[in-house]
Amino acid sequence: MSKIIVIPGDGIGVEVTASAVEVLKKVDAKFNLGLEFEYRDAGGASYEKYGEPLTAETLDVCKKADAILFGAVGGKQWDSLPVDKRPEKALFGLRKGLGLYGNLRPVKVYDALIDGSPLKPELVRGCDVLIVRELVGGIYFGARCESEIVDGVERAWDTEMYSVPEIERIARLAFESARKRRKKVTSVDKANVLASSRLWRRVVSELAKDYPDVELDMLYVDNCAMQLAINPRQFDVIVTSNMFGDILSDEASVIGGSIGLLPSASLGEGTGFFEQIAGSAPDIAGKNLANPIAEILSAAMLLRYSLNAPAAAEAIEKAVDQTLADGYRTAEIFRDGCKKVGTTEMTAEIIARI
Ligand code: IPM
Ligand code: MN
Repeated sequence: MSKIIVIPGDGIGVEVTASAVEVLKKVDAKFNLGLEFEYRDAGGASYEKYGEPLTAETLDVCKKADAILFGAVGGKQWDSLPVDKRPEKALFGLRKGLGLYGNLRPVKVYDALIDGSPLKPELVRGCDVLIVRELVGGIYFGARCESEIVDGVERAWDTEMYSVPEIERIARLAFESARKRRKKVTSVDKANVLASSRLWRRVVSELAKDYPDVELDMLYVDNCAMQLAINPRQFDVIVTSNMFGDILSDEASVIGGSIGLLPSASLGEGTGFFEQIAGSAPDIAGKNLANPIAEILSAAMLLRYSLNAPAAAEAIEKAVDQTLADGYRTAEIFRDGCKKVGTTEMTAEIIARI
């Protein structure tokens, strides 16, 4: 038996996790995985029920589970809450509480969707990048001050800090991931300005000696942002800090035409955590418009990374490929000549192909 905690959260999180659970049930029946699902709230949904975005009980249940399938958190109605009650706080609590230091965000361009890319087809065809983002350190978790008055002037500040072990473990994850792919790592930093980046660069170069079979490249983050737009196919694995990874992964996500296609895995010391990266998209929530593919592919990553069920993961990924090749499209990727479907129909088409 493997216990999966399902956290739909807010907005489209509710619909897309429902789709992913249906898909998991289908592969469970086919591959005899013995999956068990248990539901918990987080984000705005949890705040409404319990007055906090993440309860200690939820974190505890997650710690004991085999994997977490997470939808999204956030919505306008909670935007003006104090920082520690805001929906995102649930994400940070889970990431930190579960020691999820490595966030894997694969960006793959589907041939069937190439016209949807904002970049020229010849630039993106076959593009396949894995962003490895550090997730529990850096400026997201450093010391900060919301407001202080110095010499009669109000100011606020945040701190970027990385330690050698923090850099080593994320770099190791990147090198290990590259070994299973095209054996190239691009480490991204701002070493021409930031001390924390200079340490990052030194530690990554040192660690590279353990991986002589993997090519290592170093780029400044501003250059990397540009390279992603002009020649994304040069990248295999990109490894970077929490904030640079946040920004670059959003940029990279649109290369394939829609952020609604991109899954993610967060891995570390404890239970693995799997979520689509598009956010809660309140504008389309509850309208059967959301693309469930990102969450369904996140479920495939869950099977691969946390449950060691690669055949079941592959069955899902192949079914998604086939459904797209057969012309099924949710609204945000719809083109003339294709079949326009909603969340539930897309899910059913994928399940029919497993
Ligand atoms: C992400 C999101 C979060 C982040 C937000 C919601 C706090 O943008 O997972 O990329 O910045 O980490
Ligand atoms: Mn982000």
